[in-house]
Amino acid sequence: MLIKVVKKSILDVKADVIVVNLFEGVKKPGGVTGIVDKAFNNVISNYVIKKEKFEGKFGEIYQLPLVSEGKKIFVVGLGKQVDFTYPKIRTLTEKVVKACGKNEKKVVSILHGAGIAGLDAELCAQMIAEGASAGGYAFDKYKSDKKENKVEEFTIAEIDSAKFKKAEKGAEKGCIIARSVSMAKDLINDSSQYIYPETLANFAVENSGVKTTVYNKKQIEKLGLTAFLAVGQGSAHEPRFIHMEYKPAKKAKKKIALVGKGITFDAGGLDLKPPASMLTMRDDMSGAAAVIATMRAISELKPDVEVHAVVAACENMPSGSAYKPGDVIISKIGKSIEIDNTDAEGRVTLADALAYAEELGVDEIIDIATLTGACMVAFGSVVSGILGNNDKKVKEFIAVGDEIGERYWQLPMYEEYGEGLKSKIADMKNTGGRNGGASAAGIFLSKFIKNTPWIHIDIAGTAFVNDMATGVGVKSFVKYIVG
Ligand code: BES
Ligand code: MG
Ligand code: ZN
Repeated sequence: MLIKVVKKSILDVKADVIVVNLFEGVKKPGGVTGIVDKAFNNVISNYVIKKEKFEGKFGEIYQLPLVSEGKKIFVVGLGKQVDFTYPKIRTLTEKVVKACGKNEKKVVSILHGAGIAGLDAELCAQMIAEGASAGGYAFDKYKSDKKENKVEEFTIAEIDSAKFKKAEKGAEKGCIIARSVSMAKDLINDSSQYIYPETLANFAVENSGVKTTVYNKKQIEKLGLTAFLAVGQGSAHEPRFIHMEYKPAKKAKKKIALVGKGITFDAGGLDLKPPASMLTMRDDMSGAAAVIATMRAISELKPDVEVHAVVAACENMPSGSAYKPGDVIISKIGKSIEIDNTDAEGRVTLADALAYAEELGVDEIIDIATLTGACMVAFGSVVSGILGNNDKKVKEFIAVGDEIGERYWQLPMYEEYGEGLKSKIADMKNTGGRNGGASAAGIFLSKFIKNTPWIHIDIAGTAFVNDMATGVGVKSFVKYIVG
């Protein structure tokens, strides 16, 4: 989809759909919606509002066909003005694109939020670009019948010079972020038959946009990532360790490392998952996809921050060579782990990946992982879990998420959650049962970070919703790092 901004009146743009808006309860539209209303004989105020009783509730779209003109006006509800936020603009625009029929190829939209609401035109346009792209997203690679009703051109019309300039900038940023989100979705939606450690690593080399080093099994052994290797040893596919790095041209303000869980398929290992739980486990590399896609955006947005991203990619499979319940493995930092359950594999791979990240000497580490069913049970697909060893940073990250519309909820880190991890034969077990599982997993991970501020994000419930990838995490990372 081509997304552009033009310095024109919305009425002068050739389109199949004209998108205007209304705050809840408004009877007489003002601004650009008012101009469109007048241009078409007050049809919005007299017909849509008065006769059809369109109230402007958030997310409602009134589709008004202009038969003689061969096009439609979409009046979208913005909801109550006091409740209006930037992410709502993205949501609305996504809905608009999804609502377009197969002959509605060209859409022109008002710059939602930049009128009466007085929001920043740049961020408004960014949200529109992201929403338009998300609305047009389809994973139809394996369908012989490709989705037909794809909007081809989405134009933002803004006549005010200052707002237009800002909107151009915002839309450009929005397109970069949107491409990254789509990249993450494509990677996650694809089947594990094609996305395994080697191909995931190749993807990162080709698409991360930054320097990417890939370590094979022998090299991983040399790096001493023995816990990670144990998880991958039951698979026909060899593991790969991926290290991406972005260095700014100027002196870096800070150094940050992202760590993404990269289990390309999680069968559970010898503690095999039941069929229903295994079905979607190709999504167990959603953290990896999020950090690879984030690097791509970082490479284009060029912040003054040094950013590393690491992924320990392997498959968790049962086989004669698989790691076994009761095995004791020694992690990179020398701590021993008794394998209580081979299905709690993510934290075992992350133990070494986090230790590797800390050795890079960064100022902070953020990991993102489809880590626990417990987190999904607690929060469903509505919010991701978050915790860490630095309360201030956790809260800061949650606030960034709120701003851009990805929700996080802090999980407790009381030491009691670690009780179950005590082992009779090793320094710790990898699980202490399912109760309180998201916090217990967090406590486990924390043992592999010595003293770097660290945040852990559990996206088990939010990475894959209605059997499709969401690309969760990318937008938060970009906002957190770039602003
Ligand atoms: N990849 C799963 C967690 C998961 C569950 C992700 C549902 C997405 C949706 C993880 O590796 C896992 O299997 N965790 C176990 C841990 C348990 C054995 C302590 C779980 O949550 O059941
Ligand atoms: Mg598992
Ligand atoms: Zn897993």
